[in-house]
Amino acid sequence: MKVENPTLFIIFGGSGDLAHRKLYPALFNLYRNGYINEKFAVIGTARRDWSDDFFRDTVKESLKKFCEDEKTVDEFIGHFYYQSHDVNDSEHYIILKKLAQKLNDQYELEDNRVYYMAIAPSLFGTVAGHIKSEDLMTKNGFNRLVIEKPFGHDFESAKALNDEISQTFDEQQIYRIDHYLGKEMVQNIPVLRFNNPVFETIWNKDYISNVQVTLAESLGVEERGGYYDGTGALRDMVQNHIMQILAQLTMEKPNEFTSQKVHESKKALFASLKMLTPDEVDANFVRGQYGTNQNQTQISYREGLNIDPDSETETYVAGKVMFDNDTFKGVPFYVRTGKRMPEKSTRIDIVFKKEVKNIFPTLDTDAIKENVFSIIIEPDQGYELLMNGTKVGMNFETTAFDMAYKHTNAQLDQVPEAYERLLINVLDGDQTNFTHWDELLSTWKYIDVIRQKWDETPISFPNYRSGSVGPKDADELLSKDGNSWFWQG
Ligand code: BG6
Repeated sequence: MKVENPTLFIIFGGSGDLAHRKLYPALFNLYRNGYINEKFAVIGTARRDWSDDFFRDTVKESLKKFCEDEKTVDEFIGHFYYQSHDVNDSEHYIILKKLAQKLNDQYELEDNRVYYMAIAPSLFGTVAGHIKSEDLMTKNGFNRLVIEKPFGHDFESAKALNDEISQTFDEQQIYRIDHYLGKEMVQNIPVLRFNNPVFETIWNKDYISNVQVTLAESLGVEERGGYYDGTGALRDMVQNHIMQILAQLTMEKPNEFTSQKVHESKKALFASLKMLTPDEVDANFVRGQYGTNQNQTQISYREGLNIDPDSETETYVAGKVMFDNDTFKGVPFYVRTGKRMPEKSTRIDIVFKKEVKNIFPTLDTDAIKENVFSIIIEPDQGYELLMNGTKVGMNFETTAFDMAYKHTNAQLDQVPEAYERLLINVLDGDQTNFTHWDELLSTWKYIDVIRQKWDETPISFPNYRSGSVGPKDADELLSKDGNSWFWQG
């Protein structure tokens, strides 16, 4: 039996693409699964002049592919209300407040409010300021702010944004979404590390040679050029998703897996990030931009919609991240992410040291492979372990084989969407899987050095073909350390 969470959701940017694509389907699943039931209401706000009915129709449309049961959808959208809203106009917040109070009483929402910013980050501060000045926060229930990335453009802008929203909301009320932290296999990493003594003992510099984090996408930038061309892969994927995956992989074991303890661990971890100097950037980070594919049937990045034809924005990044702490000192964490790679593949490959004394006189020492433990995040979900053994037969020859576990299709059907899981966390008041300000502060400072160096150094793009694994330099990044990428596309 799920506990009902009476809540009013106020969605700024309620007419937008993000809300329709991610948020409403996630809310609908919460509804179907009983996390919200009778006692909830949603106010969508945006500039456009829409009626409640029109708004409900758009929400219904966005749910079409998820549910054929029209009655349930109609009941659900009956809880939706729309308010045309200019974020700069105080009067509009007063109207919003009245509507919020009315719905609070009508649906018995116990003064609980979630403010969801599905709008441009430049407006977060303005909206938060008005929530305070027009007194929208309730006294008795909870007031929680949910914000989407990008959270700033660099350290300075992130800090300015944080200072603005902190005038209204405490850190305990702010839920910064990183949807990778809502993924099944990403949430699984700490459990795997801390509940398996077999891994706990070897998860350190004594046993691990290097770690490889790959977030490969087959799609290009598609219709998001307007956003992407001013952002690039470093800010879009590395500063947030990759850094959070690294934290899941390397944070010290918290005494207890609670939001506070996990964040203390992550904060310490990010504080130990080995900062690069501008002179070290080129030797440790590689950028790329996709051109057309081999048959020239796909357009290059620069030919995309709303993209500068001379753009130097990177659609690919590979880098070597190091930590200055006792556990991982000297272990390279190679990370890479790119658009238009051969396939969608999100995975972590942990390569162990090959320090075996071969006592079998007939076995070829060179044929012994490094053990590699892979965490497959998406689209498949599972684990693989590359091990050494013998070939079947009389010859007693060494061979490597793969031990693999995969979630079944039936299990994959049960995997909740990242947004759904994270929204439940918001309702439960559990911030464990959200990004705290201390973490952002360190990761932005780390990223800023690379960004600044790149911005000062012209580059010849495109430098990788659509459908390939990325630029050549990304291979050299590892080969000069005597390593190579385990996943080859
Ligand atoms: C988003 C980025 O945060 O993550 C996109 O803005 C990227 O550019 C997306 O495509 C990838 O997410 P997922 O869940 O599809 O791996």
